[in-house]
Amino acid sequence: MPRVFVTRHIPESGLDLLRESCEVDVWEGQLPPPRDEILWRVRDVDGIIPLLTDKVDAEVMDASPNLRVIANYAVGYDNVDIAAATKRGITVTNTPEVLTEATADMAWSLMLAAARRIPESIAYVKSGSWRTWEPGLLLGKDIWGATLGVVGLGRIGSAVARRSSGFNMRVIYTANRESEEALGAGWEHTDLDHLLADSDFVSLHVPLADRTHKLINAETLNKMKPGAVLINTARGPIVDTDALYAALRSNIIGAAALDVTDPEPLPVDHPLFALPNCIVVPHVGSATRATRELMARMAAQNALAVLNGKQPPNPVNEPLEHNI
Ligand code: DGY
Repeated sequence: MPRVFVTRHIPESGLDLLRESCEVDVWEGQLPPPRDEILWRVRDVDGIIPLLTDKVDAEVMDASPNLRVIANYAVGYDNVDIAAATKRGITVTNTPEVLTEATADMAWSLMLAAARRIPESIAYVKSGSWRTWEPGLLLGKDIWGATLGVVGLGRIGSAVARRSSGFNMRVIYTANRESEEALGAGWEHTDLDHLLADSDFVSLHVPLADRTHKLINAETLNKMKPGAVLINTARGPIVDTDALYAALRSNIIGAAALDVTDPEPLPVDHPLFALPNCIVVPHVGSATRATRELMARMAAQNALAVLNGKQPPNPVNEPLEHNI
């Protein structure tokens, strides 16, 4: 039976699927397995199902001579060294589509929460400060009729843009090319500078790569509209955290709402937490029960396909020496 190492307890339906034809080793800790533990546990496996917190690099691959598949339990795969896997004939897969709508819902939750100052309002009520209706109490920002800038119109970016139709928003976006859907919906293709200058809400949906690392930095933050809101549900390192703090502190932008941060998690004494115009939630964009079940099954199906010598449904590389 092939052996698979799963780096955390993922939903049972995915594990059950694997157990039908594999020997499955699951790391049961709440925190990610320490590096030494990963290197030890992968020594005789044929497949790994890692989480986005687990770095799977050349060292891990070399510690695992029989490794044939890395079936990431995430759509993003910046935790995996794709070039190293490709060179070694190891197939890498991810979990696209199934988490698109949940993540888009989270981007909108954050946008609404930041615009209408929901966390501040809850804290205000709970602290006993609410004494009467006031004309100037906790005034926010209109979403209705505003301009939404989507940086990266892929699956999740498009789902975020689609949700704007009930809000009478103008949508502008960056992407390598114009999409059919965007043309039909009247979303406008533009470059990053114009998007930043025109958007009331900027939502990030690019993968983390060298070209997107700190894409949002002091210079790009300065190009945003005063009072604009930045939403990040993609990856933390796409935003320069120090530059974001400075921009929020000096009101260069109006607010930020982050599902992802750099580092992750942010230390509890991080200055961003002291800012009323910054919302941080703990990387829960895809965190619905149904979505996580689908992700688990998809990761398992990808791993099983490769281990059974078949093309997996969601490959992200083409291994040089195809080892499926
Ligand atoms: C992903 O899949 O990349 C998300 O960040 C977690 O679901």
